Amino acid sequence: MSDDSLYTTRDSGAPAGSDEHSLTVGPGGPIVLHDHYLLEQMAQFNRERIPERQPHAKGSGAFGTFETTADISQYTCAALFQPGVKTDMAVRFSTVAGERGSPDTWRDPRGFALKFYTTEGIYDMVGNNTPIFFVKDPMKFQHFIRSQKRRQDNNLRDHDMQWDFWTLSPESAHQVTWLMGDRGIPKTWRHMNGYSSHTYLWVNADGVKHWVKYHFKSDQGVEHLTQHEADQMASADTDFHTRDLFENIAAGNHPSWTLKVQLMPFDDAPKYRFNPFDLTKVWPHGDYPLIEVGRMTLHTNPVDHHTQIEQLAFEPNNVVPGIGFSPDRMLLARVFSYADAHRARLGGNYKQIPVNAPVNEVHSYSKDGAMRIHNVTDPVYAPNSKGGPAALYPGQGEPQWAADGEILRSAYVDHAEDDDWGQAGTLVREVFDDDARDRFVDNVVGHLLNGVSDPVLERAFEYWHNVDPDIGARIRSGVAEKKNASDPKKDDQANPARSSMQEKAAEEKA
Ligand code: HEM
Repeated sequence: MSDDSLYTTRDSGAPAGSDEHSLTVGPGGPIVLHDHYLLEQMAQFNRERIPERQPHAKGSGAFGTFETTADISQYTCAALFQPGVKTDMAVRFSTVAGERGSPDTWRDPRGFALKFYTTEGIYDMVGNNTPIFFVKDPMKFQHFIRSQKRRQDNNLRDHDMQWDFWTLSPESAHQVTWLMGDRGIPKTWRHMNGYSSHTYLWVNADGVKHWVKYHFKSDQGVEHLTQHEADQMASADTDFHTRDLFENIAAGNHPSWTLKVQLMPFDDAPKYRFNPFDLTKVWPHGDYPLIEVGRMTLHTNPVDHHTQIEQLAFEPNNVVPGIGFSPDRMLLARVFSYADAHRARLGGNYKQIPVNAPVNEVHSYSKDGAMRIHNVTDPVYAPNSKGGPAALYPGQGEPQWAADGEILRSAYVDHAEDDDWGQAGTLVREVFDDDARDRFVDNVVGHLLNGVSDPVLERAFEYWHNVDPDIGARIRSGVAEKKNASDPKKDDQANPARSSMQEKAAEEKA
């Protein structure tokens, strides 16, 4: 080796004995227990993997800057959204259902998770590339994710299970329509928009409140892969989206997104035609137009995927002064779920991992625990008369809203135009053009032909009929035509466990 200073060390920093040979009793004898360097190598290797995220396991990310280019201080006093302010960011894109090694190009929503290292603490905007979601009550989220992942018996993904859940959950229609359309497989992460999906609350320095939805519009344009292109890519390059982002940033081709927001005056909420806190609905731009805020640019690649991306922990509860939550039940549940997931996956002191740590000083009373790096000093309690930190705005917290009523389990109160099918129908009829509608029908037909059988299949036809009768008829006849044209046993062969279960059910019936 030419550079004598670059020698291998043990994890303690002391020189390692060899990169190649274990310690043995003579050249032909056994290895010995006190070869602690060999033991260190094996033990560390056995502990390299940490659990993957439950949903959104496959993904990657980068670092960048957000710059507020407009003056929106009449809507929020958040420091990062004041004119001219630049804030460092970490970003992670992902698929939802696949595991860590799964193809980037599977049809799925994409995670669009943003961490802002603001002067007032960390702000996380943990969104998707879709403005809506499949369910609107957190009680159904776990069930939804399980239905999209793998069966318990054969460990296979199963379209029958997916459509079973969707067709028994009509509130999914808007998001499933979106998913089966062109935007269900973005060409690259650079070519997709990102959305808060949820409604949040903004408050300005005078206490005036607005409900807000975020739209990060891709400056690269929105482009998609067809199902065929995506299938080809899944085998040609499993990590296509990961590679595309990394290589573009490395080549100096820095992707950017323009942040626009929709703002609803606080008092409009009860009378708006759609429930503004229902995550399965959008606010048409004619009702609340987009207002430009600033631009996010990604310019720096990770140098260590594990410590900078795999250990990157987003949590919707990370809000800063000027930004609060809304009565959206899904959002309120997420405010608990993510920090809990991080404690389980990364350990209680995950906020001290550098990529998750704020850039401003932390004066919290949290203390101790495994792997803690920085700790509280005395006094370790509050209130105290010993000069310890005291809350800045006693009695206040994030901006809130009023709520009162009987404690119960119920559906949301419907607003004038709320129903499960209406906005899905508008998407098919008014947003898709003829070609996009054709591709959409092909995608749904192809998906249904892959292992979906009655009674789920019949329910799927009704589901699409409810979205739009014409589309429903096209999907029904498309499935019938393709089924007639193919070997009737083909579907069952695609999913042996399902067919054996069906046979068993038929036997039991007989
Ligand atoms: C990841 C829970 C709804 C976007 C996760 C994780 C959990 C979770 C436990 C894994 C976190 C980790 O281990 O790092 C939930 C619950 C939901 C919900 C309980 C509803 C009640 C949503 C919605 C969106 C969303 C509506 C988008 C608007 C994401 C994203 C990630 C994620 C982007 C990946 C973050 C990353 O890149 O690390 N979710 N989720 N989730 N979720 Fe959700």
